[in-house]
Amino acid sequence: MTPGTAVGTHPPADLSMNETPYPPLPGVRRVVTDAAAALQRYPDRTSAALVAALSQRLGVGPEAILVGPGSAGLCQHLVQSLGPRPDVVHPALSFEGYPLIIGNAGARAVPVPMDGYAHDLPAMADAVTERTRCVLLCNPNNPTGAALRRDDVEAFLDRIPADVPVIVDEAYREFVTDPRSPDGMDLYRAYDNVCVLRTFSKAYGLAALRVGYAVVPPRLTRAAALTGAVFFPSALAQAAAVASLTPEVGAELTRRCTELVAERTRLIGALRGLGLTVAPSEANFVWLPLGERAVPFADRAREAGILVMALPGAGVRITVGSPEANERLRAFVRAALADGL
Ligand SMILES: Cc1ncc(COP(=O)(O)O)c(C=O)c1O
Repeated sequence: MTPGTAVGTHPPADLSMNETPYPPLPGVRRVVTDAAAALQRYPDRTSAALVAALSQRLGVGPEAILVGPGSAGLCQHLVQSLGPRPDVVHPALSFEGYPLIIGNAGARAVPVPMDGYAHDLPAMADAVTERTRCVLLCNPNNPTGAALRRDDVEAFLDRIPADVPVIVDEAYREFVTDPRSPDGMDLYRAYDNVCVLRTFSKAYGLAALRVGYAVVPPRLTRAAALTGAVFFPSALAQAAAVASLTPEVGAELTRRCTELVAERTRLIGALRGLGLTVAPSEANFVWLPLGERAVPFADRAREAGILVMALPGAGVRITVGSPEANERLRAFVRAALADGL
């Protein structure tokens, strides 16, 4: 393929949104179709069946669980409910939604620059003051793919005042294989101020339905539930999420994540083999720190029918797609580099 040439017959390969390349998990589509028979009815505003399923799965009481229309929406309600202190400390470069979420929640963003690909946890702890409403951690980090280490997070949490909640965003948790990276639920059990944020959008493949959840110290759930009271997941989303939590579906989810992680390893190896710098990744995407070449790279990729996410001046984030899409990407990169990109 020649770079810059539109790929006539292929639909674009969208590797820009960190979506799963797999079709809906077994049985989930049927559950959604069945739920569609009662579209005239409001959803259960307490999401009782989903909260019960999560409570059983996670081993925490239902009073510790919040569900919402995507983890981003839920994050906003949580941050809003944790006021009135003004500041929210967050890593930067991280999820592009954080500054928006923090602003929408009526708070002030305090970005703390990264240490390479990773959070600078000592600097984040230094940034916490009596004005701090809460801290956001992203594990693994979007867009750099770096996972936090248990020892580092514990040293960080030991420095954070007990009345400052730390929200650990685990949107990509299911793709983590590094045993040194902590499970947010273990942190939740060990520290009284940890909140864990997860989503059904990524590994579970329910991005279109908008459903996520948080595990939050019960003393904080009431205010957050009130803040988000009119924003509960749709009936279809609740039904699909419940169906996704059965053991049989869980086995297929694990199989898919293992397959995707193997594909991630292959893709990183292939791109490095072509001479690119690729950050280590514990997520379903890879990060190329291309600096000023980021936008030209993404533009050329788009012309070649491949959509990636460019952060101007920083780099390009590419979702690990199907083997076919990844092969297309590899062919594009090889041709583009040969062409002097
Ligand atoms: C780190 C992180 N958190 C949260 C989200 C939001 O996910 P959703 O609102 O679909 O649950 C995303 C989406 O890309 C993300 O990358």
